Amino acid sequence: MKTDKNIIVAPSLLSADFANLHKDLDMINRSEADWLHLDVMDGVFVPNISFGMPVIAAVQKECKKVLDVHLMIVEPDKFISDFQKLGAGVLTVHYEACTHLHRSIQRIKDAGMKAGVALNPHTPISLLEEVIEDIDVVMLMSVNPGFGGQKFINNTLDKVSRAKELILRKNSKAIIEVDGGVNLETGAKLISAGADALVAGSFVFGAKDPLDTIAKLKAL
Ligand code: DX5
Ligand code: ZN
Repeated sequence: MKTDKNIIVAPSLLSADFANLHKDLDMINRSEADWLHLDVMDGVFVPNISFGMPVIAAVQKECKKVLDVHLMIVEPDKFISDFQKLGAGVLTVHYEACTHLHRSIQRIKDAGMKAGVALNPHTPISLLEEVIEDIDVVMLMSVNPGFGGQKFINNTLDKVSRAKELILRKNSKAIIEVDGGVNLETGAKLISAGADALVAGSFVFGAKDPLDTIAKLKAL
């Protein structure tokens, strides 16, 4: 069912052509995408390594969209000011990687960025109960983080509803972003469940017409 909600669409650079980022960034700039999602992986928190500061610095120079940085790293606090300097608009840390999550959230906001908290598929929404009012973005992983192109985990739909309940009950301004296995079918279900922002990597960059694919996600 079509809603009148303005869904945030965030293509994930992980599935772009790294030998020709200029072309893909130009496509993103011309598209209806709201954010560009950047997956930073350290090979410790997740079983993969992606890209880091020099690549993001180059992307930032060309990209006109809000940079939505998803940190899949241990000890993210060490790098908050680096990502702020690199132009991140949204900085998301993983619940599972933060011993002092409240402090991490405050540091991100003090640095002038929107603060996101990501939950792995096994991590319950209820663990956000005491920080939901401080968060700008709740990011629900609908795959196990580390790789693009994985299958959507259906339980995420119930988690979106539970996150929405918590947000409304606590009068939080947080939005719900979902990351992993998003396409038009899963995207439509997620929006019905209450999602506000959709990350899509392989579905966008693997499409024949990425511009049209972004437009279709945006129109959901
Ligand atoms: C997975 C990353 C995702 C990934 C999504 O660890 O956090 O952002 O790029 O890729 P798709 O949309 O292909 O599942
Ligand atoms: Zn991501």
